[in-house]
Amino acid sequence: MAAKKWPVALALVAGTLALMAGLITGGYALEGWQLAARWTARIGFPIFLTAYLGSSLVRLAPAPWSRALIRDRRWWGLGFATSHTIHLFALIMAVRLSPEPRTVASLVPGGIAYLFIFAMAATSNQAAMRALGHNWKRLHTTGIHVIWLIFTLAYAKRIPDMETRIIGITMTALALAALSIRVLARRQRPSALAA
Ligand code: HEM
Repeated sequence: MAAKKWPVALALVAGTLALMAGLITGGYALEGWQLAARWTARIGFPIFLTAYLGSSLVRLAPAPWSRALIRDRRWWGLGFATSHTIHLFALIMAVRLSPEPRTVASLVPGGIAYLFIFAMAATSNQAAMRALGHNWKRLHTTGIHVIWLIFTLAYAKRIPDMETRIIGITMTALALAALSIRVLARRQRPSALAA
């Protein structure tokens, strides 16, 4: 069955709507762009989790729906890159408008994650897979875990603050559950897969 590219369109539409919702709610100044950054990240997280979990879910629960996830995994990955490019646009605006300048050090972890996001998007094709050989898997496995880590840290960081505690706990729990699913899937014996 041919892969379905609609996750990219979904990410583009949902990311753009999140950006617009932020600006309509908070205005075209700092608050609006901060909300836009927050909500575009919130759209990106479930799209990321879909790409992150595809191969594990097909191992643990082989079924038409999980096979569809792995078949379309490239497009979920590109969908995530799309929505996170919208996050990048919103956060650049928020950082530029912020009266408190960010230290370079505070931009490093997110910046590294963006390098992986764009490198992974640029190599999400057959030609790059062939050209990179084993390094393709190294790049994509390292990248997906770096992105997972930045999401987890970004949400865990919200837990101490009363205002953002609920979203912080919920999303951190989701990120940890997703990691557990990957660990479980890796432990799945090959004989169980054949069954
Ligand atoms: C240097 C790069 C980055 C900067 C400067 C940045 C900046 C921002 C800003 C300004 C916000 C809104 C803060 C608020 O709630 O008021 C935000 C939210 C967020 N960002 Fe980014 N970001 C960066 C990269 C990333 C990356 C790579 C990820 C994930 C892989 C990410 C995940 C998040 C998450 C999870 C939120 C919170 C969303 C929520 O509250 O639900 N960010 N970021």
